[in-house]
Amino acid sequence: MIYRPIALDKEIRFSKKKFIVSKTDLKGNILFINKNFCEISGYSEEELIGVNHNALRHPDMPQSIFYLVWSSLLAGREVSGVIKNLAKSGEYYWVISDFSPKRDNNGDIISFTAFRRAVPDPVIEAIEELYATMLTIEKKHGMEGALSYLEAFLEEHEMSYDEFLGELIKPKGIIATLLAAFKKMFG
Ligand SMILES: Cc1cc2nc3c(=O)[nH]c(=O)nc-3n(C[C@H](O)[C@H](O)[C@H](O)COP(=O)(O)O)c2cc1C
Repeated sequence: MIYRPIALDKEIRFSKKKFIVSKTDLKGNILFINKNFCEISGYSEEELIGVNHNALRHPDMPQSIFYLVWSSLLAGREVSGVIKNLAKSGEYYWVISDFSPKRDNNGDIISFTAFRRAVPDPVIEAIEELYATMLTIEKKHGMEGALSYLEAFLEEHEMSYDEFLGELIKPKGIIATLLAAFKKMFG
């Protein structure tokens, strides 16, 4: 059990070269977190192992984004997302998160991993506005309403969700190289 802090309007910034890793069971209970996770979220390993990942959920995050993440993961597909997380201090930090399912030798999904990195400011600006609208719709009309809005938004931009994110958050240059090495190490 962890104490859920009150959200503060204060951002935690961290280096582009710091990757935050976690691994969960099939229900999202945390099995592993790396050092950067502890440093940036403010939680220790003892506090988070065994706890559900929603412990870091920020009230500004629309539920529909997590719905999209879980739908892909449970179908065995990799997915990415831009997520605002709630640190132990109540401060927030934005991450680009690449989620993937891990399988055993029989091909059965046994766990999920998330590799996160810092988000460039223009991406935060674009996403913040989109999420704020989705959250407002969600509160009034539920998740279906927010997903319909997202669908219309993507249609307007003639893109799928993956294409939209790909355009915004694809890792480039040294970050892409470092991230690939990191995924190999922890994957
Ligand atoms: C591997 C993995 C990592 C996750 N990381 C986060 C995270 O950093 N922040 C977060 O709010 N939710 C994360 N989630 C999603 C949570 O499990 C949960 O769906 C979300 O916080 C919404 O929680 P709620 O539906 O209980 O409100 C992660 C899920 C998985 C499978």
